[in-house]
This record gives sequence, C-alpha cells and structure tokens, in this order.
Amino acid sequence: MAIEQDEEVCVGLSKVAVSETHGEDSPYFAGWRAYDQNPYHELSNPSGVIQMGLAENQVSFDLIERYLEKHSQTMNTTGFRENALFQDYHGLKSFRQAMASFMEQIRGGRAKFDPDRIVITAGATAANELLTFILADPGDALLVPTPYYPGFDRDLRWRTGVKIVPVHCDSSNNFEITPQALESAYEEAKSNNVKISGLLITNPSNPLGATIQRSVLENILDFVTRKNIHLISDEIYSGSSFSPDEFVSVAEILDSRNHKESQRVHIVYSLSKDLGLPGFRVGTIYSYNDAVVTTARRMSSFTLISSQTQQLLSLMLSDGDFTENYVRVNRDRLKKRYGMIVEGLRNAGIECLSGGNAGLFCWMDLKGLLGDSPTKEGELSLWKLMLEEVKVNISPGYSCHCSEPGWFRVCFANMSEETLQVAIRRIHDFMVRRRN
Ligand SMILES: Cc1ncc(COP(=O)(O)O)c(C=O)c1O
Repeated sequence: MAIEQDEEVCVGLSKVAVSETHGEDSPYFAGWRAYDQNPYHELSNPSGVIQMGLAENQVSFDLIERYLEKHSQTMNTTGFRENALFQDYHGLKSFRQAMASFMEQIRGGRAKFDPDRIVITAGATAANELLTFILADPGDALLVPTPYYPGFDRDLRWRTGVKIVPVHCDSSNNFEITPQALESAYEEAKSNNVKISGLLITNPSNPLGATIQRSVLENILDFVTRKNIHLISDEIYSGSSFSPDEFVSVAEILDSRNHKESQRVHIVYSLSKDLGLPGFRVGTIYSYNDAVVTTARRMSSFTLISSQTQQLLSLMLSDGDFTENYVRVNRDRLKKRYGMIVEGLRNAGIECLSGGNAGLFCWMDLKGLLGDSPTKEGELSLWKLMLEEVKVNISPGYSCHCSEPGWFRVCFANMSEETLQVAIRRIHDFMVRRRN
C-alpha cells in the first residue's frame, strides 16, 4: 500500500545516503533502464532493445542444470537441520576447500590457495568494498587503471568515503598499464595532497576483454612495493579466459617470488561470471595478510553467503569431473561467441581491440563515427543513437572513465546465439546507412 507523503515535513538522511557517489547516474545504468522499459524478445517484442551492456554469462547454464538434476536427491537431503543453523562467518570448511581448488583449477594448477585464507563475501561487489574499508581511510584514494568497470564508482567510494584516482591508459599501446601511467597518477594525487592506499586492477580486464601480461604484472608488483601500498587484483573473470595458459594470476607471480611482499596483495574472486551465477552472490577475498584475513572475516558478517548456497556449491565444485568439463566447455563456448561478434562487427566495418582473449565482452572502436575531433559529447550522442535507433544497449567508454572518446564495451554472452546475430545485423545495417 502506498504511504501518503507529507510534503512539508522533511526528515534528514545521513551524509552517505544523500551523497552523489552511488554512481547510478552513469549512462551505464541509464542503458539498463532503457532496456528494462522495452526488452527485446524474438516473438513478443522483436523490435525491442537488445541488452549488450550486461556482463552476464548464460552460455553454459545447461551444464549446471544437468548437474543439479542428476544430484538433486543428495542436495535436498544432506544435513538440513545442521545447515539451517550454520551461521559461522568462517563459512563451511568444505565450501572454502572447494573454492580454493576451483580457483587453482582455473589457473591451470599454476597457483596454490590455502582454504584458511579464503574469506567469503556476497559477490565481488562486497569483497571490493570490504577491502576498501580495510585498506583505506575516508578521503584516501585507490588508483584504478582506466577504462574500468563502472560499478567501482559505487563499490569503492559510496559507503567508504574513499576516492578513486584514475590511471589513464590509452589505445596507443592497447591500454596497457605502464609504469609511467602509474607513476604520473600517483604523483598527481600526491601534489593534490591525496594519500594513495592501494592500486586495484581487474585481470582479465573489464571492459577490455584481455588478460594482463606477466611482464606488466611484474611491473605492477614492483610499483606497489616501491610506493609501499596495497594491491587488489580483481580476478573475477579468471576462468573466462579462452585458454588457461593465457591468464596469469598475481598469485603465480607471488609464488615465483617466494611470497616476498605478498602481505600487500589481496585477490578478489566470485562465481558471478565464470559460473554465470550473479544471483547466488558468491564471492571471496583471498589475502596473504593475516590481519586483513581476520578483519575481513569479522566484517564479512554483513555480507555472508547463505549456508544453503555454500553447501550446494561445495558439492558441485568438489566434483572434479564436473568442474573440469565445465571449465573447458565454457571456455570454448565463450571463445566461439567472441569470434562471432568480432567477425560480425568486422563485416560491418568495425574493429575491436586486438588481443581480446577473455571475458564476456569486446572493446569496440567507433572513433571513425565521431569525425575528426572525437569528444565525450559525440560519444554519448552516438551511444544514444545506438540505443534509440539501432535498439542495442552498449556501454560508452565514458561510463568506464576511458580518456579516449569512441570506444564501447559490447557484451556477447548474456543472450542466445540467435539474439546475438540479430544484434550484429542491426549494427551492420546501421553502418550501411551511415555510409550511404
Ligand atoms: C570487474 C568486476 N568486479 C566486480 C563485479 C561485481 O561482481 P559480483 O556479481 O560478484 O558482485 C563485476 C561485475 O560485473 C566486475 O565486472
């Protein structure tokens, strides 16, 4: 029932509640709303908007569904009462063990994870915020290379009061994170009297859809050591790299350095992307720092994963036959989808960032449509045109803080192959119209 609002009475809210740092006024979220108002459906709404701004993985649901069907009996009957009462913030040991071995498996067995260092959180969103609370004070900042996942504007800043200082990367070197870019962002913050507490990287990168090379990771570790700051490595797409050999985790580099300087390193992982389960809210912090593990565990009380979900996933993830098959098939399917979108866009006269080898999206170059002097305004009107005329929602680089106008993130795994073909055809026809 609606409550009648008395307009004369204005009851104040907290500074956090009224702050603008929630990040929701970005075109990233505006595109989602436009899709929600007019969603494409092949039969009931064939002229609706196709959502290409949502990094969801729906390509391997059949494998999980088959597993659940086969094991439903065991799952429904295992220790209901015990499980219903379980609320320990350490999480089920069997779940932490299963997560640790899954994290090892998707890294090709090249990194080791100790289940006792795993802190459970409600998704990577909670993990990133929790780490920010622990590593930085309000007013301090984290360095984040651009372009970056738009949700970070909310997750890292809103409730913590921490700032983001962008590390500007550009297409001249495929958006590589260079020591010079890191140094100059750090120095600029320093000259503005902003204390940098850490650096957060996403590997494989969202929105670029590419893994970070070993040599770049080595430079990043050297940088955080030199500056005596923390490193958060958000590796949420690690199992969605098209080949296990192409993904290098910061965990591997630490192993090869005999864990020197590992106290400043914290890995974030979640099952939202690799297993396509964002609704399950399953995330983890893996820290090499004992104090961070203890504090994160205490704080995780606010954002735990239900014991029912932990139990279900510990059974599924500890089944080696299932995980091995899932990871391989999921990788092959994502690679195939990537090939479809990149080739489809190329046929339409559009190039994507080269070196894409991971994730659920590609980074599309539409600079050519912005004229001789591309601007942020030009990029945003093109995004609007694509949304209103072409009826596809893609994410403009501006919403990812990209300093170079004309780039867009295009997601390809949150729809069927047929819908993807419709989207490609729409973009192709749009490009033909532009040329004529
Ligand atoms: C880089 C990155 N980190 C974190 C998240 C949030 O993930 P979760 O659903 O696990 O909270 C996302 C989701 O898109 C992401 O792309």
